[in-house]
Amino acid sequence: MQDLCLRTNLRCATGCAGMGISMRIAVMVSGGGTNLQAIIDSVKNGMITNTELVGVISNNKNAYALTRAKENGIDAKCISPKDYESREVFNQELLKAVDAYEPDLIVLAGYLVVIPPEMIKKYKNRIINIHPSLIPSFCGTGYYGLKVHEAALERGVKVVGATVHFVDEGTDTGPIILQKAVEVLPDDTPETLQRRIMEQAEWKILPQAVSLFCAGKLSVNGSIVTIKE
Ligand code: GRF
Repeated sequence: MQDLCLRTNLRCATGCAGMGISMRIAVMVSGGGTNLQAIIDSVKNGMITNTELVGVISNNKNAYALTRAKENGIDAKCISPKDYESREVFNQELLKAVDAYEPDLIVLAGYLVVIPPEMIKKYKNRIINIHPSLIPSFCGTGYYGLKVHEAALERGVKVVGATVHFVDEGTDTGPIILQKAVEVLPDDTPETLQRRIMEQAEWKILPQAVSLFCAGKLSVNGSIVTIKE
């Protein structure tokens, strides 16, 4: 059982919880930022304690998520693959920017760019992602945005939902932390389904997962995540 209190210094999650040192969270976004907003609101209302949102990074300079960050006094920047001569250079610059925040936890909140392998290695079991389906259904390469919900409606499933998982080298393949189911309604469209999954699932389980991580309550054994009482 690998305890996620991985930090050798006092910034260990459990140590932080005990020592009152706040956990540093960086959030990566690409779109509207409603999941980022859910985290911001949860810190404000005390559902998430002992944390500091230290930075938001987007690949999309027009992402409203960047506006949400700035409106809440959080450092926000755009690092786009389009601005670099190669993916390798982008990956290096992205990792440098993430490292500069010295994050204890990195949250992918609708981030649509592939995370550099070296970043996944460096931040093993310290990057979490929200995906708008009940993994392992409707996930992996090509399943993002409305495509997820179009596939669910086409298959005729009666239950959908969202998943928060640790990020590993694959796409949506890391250890599952939390899931929440949502019923499909007869007149659902991809848009109505997407919205209900966000409202009823994503905006609840992502802050919950952040809170559990920062309280040092998550441990991983292989692909199994255990939530400590
Ligand atoms: C959400 O549906 C999330 O599940 C997916 O991308 C969308 C991001 O929405 N990964 P927002 O930017 O958080 O509003």
